[in-house]
Amino acid sequence: GALVSQQPRRAVSKSGASVTIECRALDFQASSMFWYHQFPKRGLVLMATSNVGSDATYEQGYNKDKIPISQPNVTFSSLTVTRVDPADSGLYFCSARDTALGRDQRPRQESW
Ligand SMILES: *[C@@H]1O[C@H](CO)[C@@H](O)[C@H](O)[C@H]1NC(C)=O
Repeated sequence: GALVSQQPRRAVSKSGASVTIECRALDFQASSMFWYHQFPKRGLVLMATSNVGSDATYEQGYNKDKIPISQPNVTFSSLTVTRVDPADSGLYFCSARDTALGRDQRPRQESW
């Protein structure tokens, strides 16, 4: 359970262009998703937390002009690295955990 899928697996870009990375929760729902950057030979650094229905929150040193993030629903978040330069190289990861509302909080489904 709790798989995420990231696309594309790999991207090469000209300096100054933009790269968008998509993250999908495959078998669960997440009201927040976490975006990490890993520099060569360094650990994962949390860049930002995306939130469905409200703006992403950014860690110090990251901002929405450079890496705008959108999370339109509980299974999808995308991150765009704008105006790329060599310092943006590295691995990017998204992660999420199941934050579906509890049964008693779900909108009621009627069956007839
Ligand atoms: C969530 O948004 C993505 C991107 O717009 C879309 O492809 C996907 O179908 C949406 N999923 C749901 C469950 O609405």
